Amino acid sequence: MENKIALLKAKIEESVAKAGDSETIEGLRVAFLGKKGEITELLRDLKSVSGEQKKEMGMKINLLKQNAEEKIKARIEEIKNAELQKKIDEAPAYDVTLPCDFKGEGSYHPITLVEREVEDIFRSMGFTVEDYPEVTDDYNCFEALNIPKHHPARDMQDTYYLDNGQLLKTHTSAAQNSIMRKYGAPLRAIFPSRCFRNEATDACHENTFFQMEGMMIDTDISISNLIYFMKTMLSEVFKQDVSVRLRPGFFPFVEPGFELDISCLICGGKGCPSCKNSGWLELCPCGMIHPNVLKAGGIDTDKYTGFAFGLGLTRLAMMRYGIKDIRDLNSGNLKVLSQFVNE
Ligand code: PHE
Repeated sequence: MENKIALLKAKIEESVAKAGDSETIEGLRVAFLGKKGEITELLRDLKSVSGEQKKEMGMKINLLKQNAEEKIKARIEEIKNAELQKKIDEAPAYDVTLPCDFKGEGSYHPITLVEREVEDIFRSMGFTVEDYPEVTDDYNCFEALNIPKHHPARDMQDTYYLDNGQLLKTHTSAAQNSIMRKYGAPLRAIFPSRCFRNEATDACHENTFFQMEGMMIDTDISISNLIYFMKTMLSEVFKQDVSVRLRPGFFPFVEPGFELDISCLICGGKGCPSCKNSGWLELCPCGMIHPNVLKAGGIDTDKYTGFAFGLGLTRLAMMRYGIKDIRDLNSGNLKVLSQFVNE
């Protein structure tokens, strides 16, 4: 039997080394290690060996089996790599400097276009543009904004939670605290971002949308500053003089809080189906930053006040380009998305 083992070992080594493709090596695996394979046969033959010898031979066959398994596994890996390399070598050479066949031109997403336009306008008024993560935590999204746990205001902003306790931010206000801590007062910043809410979708609601938050903190900031900045920005975006009005609105992180409406651009304020015959369109919740929020951000409330607004960037893009269904924006449908250009 000892002889048989030695012979089989040599045979395995030789044939495995010679195997040159996946099929052959798989065939060898079955021939040696399969149910009816030669090593399995040997183990079966052990029955006829007696006493001490049986133990010794058993050990030797097991060693042979282990050895064969390792050798075959390593060879399979080598063959796989060689086959892949061959495919790569045989693939037609790809020259990245060749002109491309694609006849059309790429285009920016309508939200990107509007976002850049608004950014330019605010930059020209001394605001910095900030970028904050879409994944944040309960503190930044709610607590630091004067929305304690179990506050009913949380109902309006249900979101998606991660296993680690973090969440997808429901509004760009989630970056207010970090920005206050980063710059202190005085500060002027805008921070656009994608936001998420656990919502059923229809033509006007999406679970994923864009906002642009703005914050200005300084001595003597009042609601008239807020109105001025919003009116200037909107008149630039719509390339016409836009009238605005403020209505009271409740958000725990501003006091007083408002809904800022703009005169309907479709009917010029006379009333039409788009503005539900009111002549006004709701566009931008805003208000004077609540002292609790300033304090949480490390700002001295005896010295500074500030305003914040949460511009609906998605809604602005829809108004600017006359897009009727919000779902088109996330559709990835190039027929829809490639129509928009920045005039
Ligand atoms: N974060 C609020 C929302 O998404 C909007 C808002 C921003 C209101 C800033 C006031 C001030 O609903």
